[in-house]
Amino acid sequence: MKSSNDPLWREEFSIRKSEERYVSRRQLTKFLTLTSLGMFVGNLWVVAKSRIRDTISYPAKWIARAGEIPVGGVKLFEYPAPGEQCLLIRTGADEYVAYSQKCTHLSCAVYYSEKRNRLECPCHQGYFSVRDGSVLAGPPPRPLPRVVLERKGADLIAIRMQDQPEA
Ligand code: FES
Repeated sequence: MKSSNDPLWREEFSIRKSEERYVSRRQLTKFLTLTSLGMFVGNLWVVAKSRIRDTISYPAKWIARAGEIPVGGVKLFEYPAPGEQCLLIRTGADEYVAYSQKCTHLSCAVYYSEKRNRLECPCHQGYFSVRDGSVLAGPPPRPLPRVVLERKGADLIAIRMQDQPEA
């Protein structure tokens, strides 16, 4: 509603302050439709991504010889592709585990603390279990992806990546 005290520029804008809070039925319908569509596309993406991940085949790669590193020791390697750093940890006389070194929070490099027997991310104090890669504390939303190892004689071979179920 125009008042005689309104400045001239107000005439050129079709929306009056008093009418700004009202959302038309058409605007609400448009908003709900677009939001629903966005959520639908997002869900499709999640389903497609999980299907794609299930069908990825990983190359087998020789990682180390058993006994090459001491108990509590670590060897860095790249898997499944060059530049994708992983950690091989000897947790016992004949026990080895391997994980991606990329923190599931913001991708900082995690390292193994033998003293505390856990994987630690120095960026925001994220801690992971060395037993299964699960999150012990901190902001990481998911466990560390595990590198599945196969033993062939004295050779340790990486055969695939395994995303861990969330706790
Ligand atoms: S990047 Fe690892 S806890 Fe934030």
